[in-house]
Amino acid sequence: MSSNKTILVTGATGLIGQALCPKLEAQGHTVRSLSRSSGDFRWNPAQGKIDPAALAGVDTVVHLAGESVAQRWTAAAKRRILDSRLASSSLLVQEILKCEQPVSYISASGINFYGYQKSQPVDESAESGEGFLAEVCRHWEGAADRLGAAGHRCVFVRTGVVLSPRGGALAKMLPPFKAGVGGKVGSGQQMMSWISLNDLVRIYLRCVEDATIAGPLNAVAPEAVSNLEFTQAMGAALKRPTAVPLPAFAVKLMFGEMGRETLLSDLQVLPAQLQAMGFGWEHERINDALDELLQS
Ligand SMILES: NC(=O)c1ccc[n+]([C@@H]2O[C@H](COP(=O)([O-])OP(=O)(O)OC[C@H]3O[C@@H](n4cnc5c(N)ncnc54)[C@H](OP(=O)(O)O)[C@@H]3O)[C@@H](O)[C@H]2O)c1
Repeated sequence: MSSNKTILVTGATGLIGQALCPKLEAQGHTVRSLSRSSGDFRWNPAQGKIDPAALAGVDTVVHLAGESVAQRWTAAAKRRILDSRLASSSLLVQEILKCEQPVSYISASGINFYGYQKSQPVDESAESGEGFLAEVCRHWEGAADRLGAAGHRCVFVRTGVVLSPRGGALAKMLPPFKAGVGGKVGSGQQMMSWISLNDLVRIYLRCVEDATIAGPLNAVAPEAVSNLEFTQAMGAALKRPTAVPLPAFAVKLMFGEMGRETLLSDLQVLPAQLQAMGFGWEHERINDALDELLQS
């Protein structure tokens, strides 16, 4: 294994952070959390405040913090979603630029960088696309431009829909599917690019330990699925019927713009960088992933 790192993790209290931090520690790394309300160090990105000791001796920053996207996108919510990522990234960049040691900056980003509708599969070489989340991702990644220019390694983990029964999209879908009132969303033809939480944690570990990895990296399973295929896999894993569809107009009525860019998003993302690195997924196929994640 690689030499032990001292890693500052923001958003360590969230779905991904809670799974990642123990795994980093189990590999012998020293983990420090940076949070608005708990953990080892405090910050308040909205006010531009950070504990000055947070970066001392740190060689890697894993930046996961950001306002949840899973809410109705009022004007105020959109401001929080964008500002929380921009302010936190800018603050980290400012602090890293003060460090004498080289720091690897590994930041979450989203596959929505590519937009929410693409007729062709996209890999890391594709341009950014349309929509609010694409704009958020461009600003989020762009905030680190000065780091790259100063010679610090930057990785942007463009993450697909993270599957875990403990939180995120899957946990929200579980109650209706378990009750037998789940079903396809919209036409069901829209493609969904996903990653199991366990594989995502393994990807972050690899990014921390392998200094040759830099730039954008699509964190998705090799096989994207249509919403209908996902729905059928949910039904099979839970042994429940999936005959109650959620029409597109209902999604737009209930969730507005957020529903259009997430639930109805049609995006087939290819993990070209992971494949080039020879990454081995534990969950390559949706049926196997859901069977394992949802076994009771
Ligand atoms: N889960 C997914 O499917 C998915 C997909 C694509 C991208 N991502 C991105 O990956 C990152 C981690 O995802 P996650 O699912 O672990 O997120 P999460 O569970 O929502 O946790 C994010 C963490 O960010 C901090 N945070 C929340 N609101 C904030 C605000 N307004 N300002 C500053 N910090 C705030 C919180 O930490 P403290 O309270 O400790 O400060 C929170 O625990 C996020 O940026 C997310 O957008 C996730």
